[in-house]
Amino acid sequence: MLVGKIVGRTSPESFVFEVSSIIRKMDFIATRDPEKHWILGRVEEIAQEKDKTLAKVSVIGYVDKKGTVKKPRMPFKPGSFIYKSEDGLIKRVLGMKSSGFYVGLLEGSDNLKVYLDPRKIITKHAAVLAKTGTGKSYFMGVLIEELMETKIPAVIIDPHGEYSSLANPNTNVEEIKYMGRFEVRPKGYKRQLNIYSLEKNLEQGMKKLKLSGKLTTQEIFDMLPFRLTTSQLSVIYSAVRDNDKERYTIDEIMKEVEKSNSKSKWNVINVLDFLKRSQLFDNVHYAKPEAMVRKGEVTIINMKGVEPDVQQLVTYKISKDLFEARKEKRIPPFLLVVEEAHNFCPERGFGGEVISSRILRTIASEGRKFAMGLAVISQRPARVEKNVLSQCNTQIFLRVTNPNDLKTIMDSVEGATRGIEAEIRSLPIGTALIVGLIDQALIVNVRVKRSDHGGEVMMLDKKMKRIEDPDTLYFFPKFLEEDIKKNIRKRLEQFKLVYYPLWRISCKFRTEEGDKVDNFFVDGVTGEMWFLRKEQIARTKGVPELIRLG
Ligand SMILES: Nc1ncnc2c1ncn2[C@@H]1O[C@H](COP(=O)(O)OP(=O)(O)OP(=O)(O)O)[C@@H](O)[C@H]1O
Ligand SMILES: [Mg+2]
Repeated sequence: MLVGKIVGRTSPESFVFEVSSIIRKMDFIATRDPEKHWILGRVEEIAQEKDKTLAKVSVIGYVDKKGTVKKPRMPFKPGSFIYKSEDGLIKRVLGMKSSGFYVGLLEGSDNLKVYLDPRKIITKHAAVLAKTGTGKSYFMGVLIEELMETKIPAVIIDPHGEYSSLANPNTNVEEIKYMGRFEVRPKGYKRQLNIYSLEKNLEQGMKKLKLSGKLTTQEIFDMLPFRLTTSQLSVIYSAVRDNDKERYTIDEIMKEVEKSNSKSKWNVINVLDFLKRSQLFDNVHYAKPEAMVRKGEVTIINMKGVEPDVQQLVTYKISKDLFEARKEKRIPPFLLVVEEAHNFCPERGFGGEVISSRILRTIASEGRKFAMGLAVISQRPARVEKNVLSQCNTQIFLRVTNPNDLKTIMDSVEGATRGIEAEIRSLPIGTALIVGLIDQALIVNVRVKRSDHGGEVMMLDKKMKRIEDPDTLYFFPKFLEEDIKKNIRKRLEQFKLVYYPLWRISCKFRTEEGDKVDNFFVDGVTGEMWFLRKEQIARTKGVPELIRLG
């Protein structure tokens, strides 16, 4: 379809054309260069000027007789015709695959399916990053369906228990309407799913999660909620010194520690008791890597309602056992999916090192050698450890608006341009920007899921998160973990972020210039009102005064 003619100054890299038909930003176009090659380009900017529309195209290239992609070397002739590109040209020039994980349709094309390369996902890791509620888990759900279709196993660390719905076919009427366009049909994956849960009352089809109770001393040290002091460490070391066993149960270690004469032994018993109380370990019946990673199956670790430190402990132990099993080739290549990755490998200053940090870092940097893929998902890219994010070669962005998060993304994506940044800021729901698949960043209309999408149960939770999110930033801490730690003279036993109740209130009031909204905060403990004045917090009496308590 003819969509316009080139006008004005041109170069081999870019030109402007006057639009004569419907064309949108990011659409692919085709034209011929003076050497008669069919060239593929993409509309980067589009603007209306009085009675004409002008579109700026950035040239991508053409495929020569040998099938290599080349860039034109002569400027385009003004007056040349511009066509909407057909899918074949896009596919050839972009070198898009025709098989693999089908995740959606290429924006700006008619019907071009986008496939992710399974090998690349498993050996080079992936990250799905976006604001809350913009479709990260949905996208991961699509990817998991594709893994099951191609019989590649996966283990999902699922803190909200939203992946269990993969068992049921999609019944959402709105989504079913789009199935024709994406060429998918409703389908449930019940038979391929193993669901482990820590909940007391297991739902049908779920298994109780138990981890191997025979632990190495290193594992015991790694799993304790905070670092032991030298004297506490020596209590454990001397307890195990005379036995030459490789692994211990928690009871065995406790029994040995009890024999110690050291004063520190009570503290040690206390922390060991944390592991015991978690009731996570069983010496006989526990989930073995061989049962979690099986061809054609996906394992979900449902941790809904579980305390954050226990979630980290579970993630640590499972990831470590799986990594070791994979190194010894006891299990096939697979993908480890970590939802809410900022909680399991937080960036320095946002929770620091947690129990699961080190093993996830190791998998990110060494997993590729052993074909163990890592996929991390987060709504706060800035809070995910950089060493993990930088190892994720395929990056899937849905909408991101937070400036700190955008900066993290721009710093971590090779060849990220201002255009990409603007695009990420305004992606509509259901649209993803995929970087690292091919040289070009691709905008993809994510396909609808065959199976049901979980997460409805946490609607309220989600709503609250959405309201809370900007306020967390509002009070972006000036004093980070490291700053505080450096200045504490006493011996540090524990460092933890706690939440302090602060109500944010917006009030509408009338003025001569129309309605205005005023924001202020009420301290939930003292009842004081907090205002932001010139970036400074000012406090006034507030509630105690109003209800005459002051
Ligand atoms: N490709 C899509 N097609 C249709 N609906 C979608 C798509 N992507 C997302 N949605 C809708 O958006 C909602 C939110 O998506 P999702 O649960 O994946 O968000 P999220 O980014 O994981 O949020 P959170 O940060 O809270 O975990 C879904 O319930 C779904 O209805
Ligand atoms: Mg989610």
